[in-house]
Amino acid sequence: MLRIAVLVSGGGTNLQAIIDGVKDGSIPNTQIAAVISNNAGAYALERGKQNGIESILLSPKDFPDREAYNEALLATIDSCNVDLVVLAGFLVKIPEQVVQKYSHRIINIHPSLIPSFCGVGYYGLKVHEAALARGVKVTGATVHYVDAGMDTGPIILQKAVYVQEGDTPEVLQRRVMEEAEWKILPQAIAMIAKEHA
Ligand code: GRF
Repeated sequence: MLRIAVLVSGGGTNLQAIIDGVKDGSIPNTQIAAVISNNAGAYALERGKQNGIESILLSPKDFPDREAYNEALLATIDSCNVDLVVLAGFLVKIPEQVVQKYSHRIINIHPSLIPSFCGVGYYGLKVHEAALARGVKVTGATVHYVDAGMDTGPIILQKAVYVQEGDTPEVLQRRVMEEAEWKILPQAIAMIAKEHA
């Protein structure tokens, strides 16, 4: 059984795709051990609770400094006893101590075809604003392993999505989520679950 923790900051539509995949069997041999968020208002926490999954709020506001938060995040992930950490719109930079301890066991979904429109400052709607500003005809999403950099780890899966005439950043974001993110993130977890003894 592959045990996973899903780290979230927002609406949790990628988390929902994972939940649905575990339920329908397209993600085999996998258990979502916990949902962890930095954001008390993240609807993703509600999605976890609705599905009987331990949902943990770990807010930086409750810690004296970033180092204390980072240590608490590592301890919280450790307490979940997981094989894989999944970043599904988690907007906090993953602390070095977590990257080191869970080396090659952290994956992230990014809403562009890396190496385009990624790295510091490229998250959420900003990614799609940059893609539209550059005038690309094709964008998409990427699942990659997380290393010490920002969106720099080995790529696992990518899926292309066409930009359409008149797209706004919001419309494009939704299409990339529907056509790419919600497909390749569950697919990547399923691949890892199948390799997991
Ligand atoms: C998605 O756009 C994802 O690409 C990015 O953060 C957003 C998360 O959305 N990493 P949700 O919380 O999964 O709905």
